[in-house]
Amino acid sequence: MPRIAYINGRYLPHSEAAVHIEDRGYQFADGVYEVCEIRHGMIVDLTRHLDRLDRSLSELAIRRPMSRPALSQVIREVCRRNRVKNGLFYLQVTRGVARRDHVYPSADTPPSLVISAKITDPAVIAKKNETGMKAITMPDNRWDRVDIKTVGLLPNAMARQAAKDKGAQEAIYVDASGMVTEGAATNVWIVDKDGVLVTRPAERGILRGITRTGLMDVTSELGVKVEEREFSRDEMLSAREVFITAATSICFPIVEIDGQPIGNGHPGAMAERIRTSFFDVAEKTVI
Ligand code: PDD
Repeated sequence: MPRIAYINGRYLPHSEAAVHIEDRGYQFADGVYEVCEIRHGMIVDLTRHLDRLDRSLSELAIRRPMSRPALSQVIREVCRRNRVKNGLFYLQVTRGVARRDHVYPSADTPPSLVISAKITDPAVIAKKNETGMKAITMPDNRWDRVDIKTVGLLPNAMARQAAKDKGAQEAIYVDASGMVTEGAATNVWIVDKDGVLVTRPAERGILRGITRTGLMDVTSELGVKVEEREFSRDEMLSAREVFITAATSICFPIVEIDGQPIGNGHPGAMAERIRTSFFDVAEKTVI
C-alpha cells in the first residue's frame, strides 16, 4: 500500500507529493511543524499540539492554513488513509511560495500545508525502553527562539549525527554556563541525588514539549513532585536517573552519557512508572 500525504488540498502518493522549488520552507526554513503520536488508533494530545502550532505560527506571523476543525479532519483522514494504528503524523506549515526574497511575501500569499503519517513498531520502542539509550553532551549552538517549533533543524540534525557517530542515540545540549537545556529532539529530565524529579523550566532555552506537559499531568495524578529548575551537566551525570521525552519516544531512559553510566547503568523506576500511566492520562482523539 503506498503511503499517502496531504499537500495543499490534495491527497497524493508520496512519490508524487512535492513542494515548489520556491517554497519558503525549502529556501529559508521559513515554516513550523508538529509531530504527534498515534497509539491504538488514537491521536495523543492533539489539542495541545494544535495549540502549540497556533503559537508557532503567530510568533512568526505565518497565516493559519485552515480552521482548526478542518485541520483536525485532514489530519485524521491522512492517518486513516495510511492505516496507522501505532505511529506518528507529521504536519508542516510554511509561509508559502514566492519569488526568492528575504523579506516576507505579501500577506495574501497562501501558506503551504503538508501532512504525512507513518507506522511505527511498538516492539522496537518497548526494546529501547527495556535496554535504555546512550547520549552525548554538546554545546548548545542554536538560536535563542527554540521555543518556536521551526523546521530550521540543521543544528539538531548535526547534533543527532554526532551522537550516532559516537554510538549514542541522543545529543543533550549544554549552555555556556554548563546548564543542560534539552536534547536534539527531546526534553531532558533527571531524578536528582535526593530522589526528586527535576526538569528545566520552559520559559527559556527549550521547546515546551507537549509530552513534557503531559508528564506533569501524570506526576500530579501519581502524587510525584516535580521541581522545575535548571540543572548542570555535572548534576545530570551524577543523577540517579535521566530520561528524555518527546512525542516520538514518550519517556526513554538514558543509561549512559559521554561514556559514563547513569545511576546503576540500567533504566530507572521513575521513567517506567510515569510511562506506564502516560496514555491513561493523555487526551485521546479517535482517528
Ligand atoms: N521533536 N525539544 C525539541 C528540540 C524537540 O524537537 C522536541 C520534539 C521536543 C519534545 O517535544 P514534544 O514532547 O512536543 O514532542 C523537545 C519532535 C518529536 C521531532 O522533531 O521529531
